[in-house]
Amino acid sequence: MSDFDELFQDSEKIYEKWNLTESPFAESAEKLTRLNEVFTGRREELATTINLLRSRDAKSILVYGWIGIGKTAFIQEVLSGLERNMKNILTASIKLEPNTDLATAALIALAREMPDDDWAQFQLNRMGLRPRKALHDRKTKAGGKFVFEGTIEESAIAPEAPQFPTLSFEDLLKRAMEKRDRVVIAIDDLDKQEPAKARKLLLDAQGLLKGRAWFLLTGHPSGITRDYLISDRGLFDLPLKLEPLDEETSYRMLIKYLASARRRKVDPNNSNDLNVVHPFTPETARALCQTAHGVPRWLNRIGNYILLKAAELKEPKIDDRVFQIGLAHAREQLRGQPGLTPQDYYVLDMVLEKGILSDASVTLEELDKMKAETFSEILPILDKLVEYDLLQRMPTERATEYAPMPLLRQAQETEETDFN
Ligand SMILES: Nc1ncnc2c1ncn2[C@@H]1O[C@H](COP(=O)(O)OP(=O)(O)O)[C@@H](O)[C@H]1O
Ligand SMILES: [Mg+2]
Repeated sequence: MSDFDELFQDSEKIYEKWNLTESPFAESAEKLTRLNEVFTGRREELATTINLLRSRDAKSILVYGWIGIGKTAFIQEVLSGLERNMKNILTASIKLEPNTDLATAALIALAREMPDDDWAQFQLNRMGLRPRKALHDRKTKAGGKFVFEGTIEESAIAPEAPQFPTLSFEDLLKRAMEKRDRVVIAIDDLDKQEPAKARKLLLDAQGLLKGRAWFLLTGHPSGITRDYLISDRGLFDLPLKLEPLDEETSYRMLIKYLASARRRKVDPNNSNDLNVVHPFTPETARALCQTAHGVPRWLNRIGNYILLKAAELKEPKIDDRVFQIGLAHAREQLRGQPGLTPQDYYVLDMVLEKGILSDASVTLEELDKMKAETFSEILPILDKLVEYDLLQRMPTERATEYAPMPLLRQAQETEETDFN
């Protein structure tokens, strides 16, 4: 047997013991193929959304919350739920790319859902995006007077952004609504761009958001999003804030994730059955939920690190000992992510040392240690560290405040007690 085969069999054996086909966790909702099997909680937010969707005229909803809290998962769940339950509805979704305006994003999203509409496909083609069906610019070229046959010349069309994206979108929307009663468009990650740009984006999109299509947008509770929430411009009919899940919901969520990758089915609703959390024990399953602090992405990420480590150690069960080893591994992996620069580490270590770093209390000396002159210089780094799940941004109105991700905080606390 080759080494690969042997190792593969070994790994197969441990997953067999765990009654899992694979690790069920995923860091982002885009990577998850079976979201509706694992989606948990958010009942109130879903109910509010459904309630609004009952009205006849189109509305716009802003779903906001911190990274990893479940914005993408939420809007995907809403869209697929609408598809299942409402007749004659068209749903479309798109992640907002930097340097794209909302109308262009909406145009692309909608056009992609209209594969049979030549005009929609032409729009995509023109922007250099692949239409669902081949399209050609047909020119009949009749040659000199002695040519008997016309030939079809196929010429590629150079990519070109629409000149009036809002108008193009409205035209396309009109076409869509000839056949559908309702068009719902989700635009994800509104403010993964510079605040100034994002602000302009929203200003430009006022007409769009008040038009005949429904919009579901997602953003962060800082920067532009907050400006729009507190302003009385009323750009959104419903601002919906996603908070961390409570521990009970996290626990149910963990069970659902595990259930989605079972070899032999286990009923996720029978929580008296110890098998629902296997290979975790009820205690380590709880501990995982506590470590995740109600942030679904952290639960996925830490859960994944622990499973991978336990598989490497060929542990049939994740008891407290294995769990602790898994956590240590998770910390190591988090800190050792590729793409972090020396300056990122200076900043991270400063936050770890201080516990909380805020624009209101940072000193010149500290800035110097982080090789920066002003706080705003390190803001992009802080945000990057949040993206990497190393820091979290604290929910405060007064200051811009960052703290270590709880998992790293715990490590520090235990290290400190070890010293004493
Ligand atoms: N309510 C939920 N139920 C189950 N999984 C969730 C839920 N919310 C988020 N997740 C999962 O947590 C991870 C992070 O969520 P995501 O929606 O990508 O966060 P965000 O878009 O806010 O950054 C994804 O793997 C996602 O599938
Ligand atoms: Mg997201």
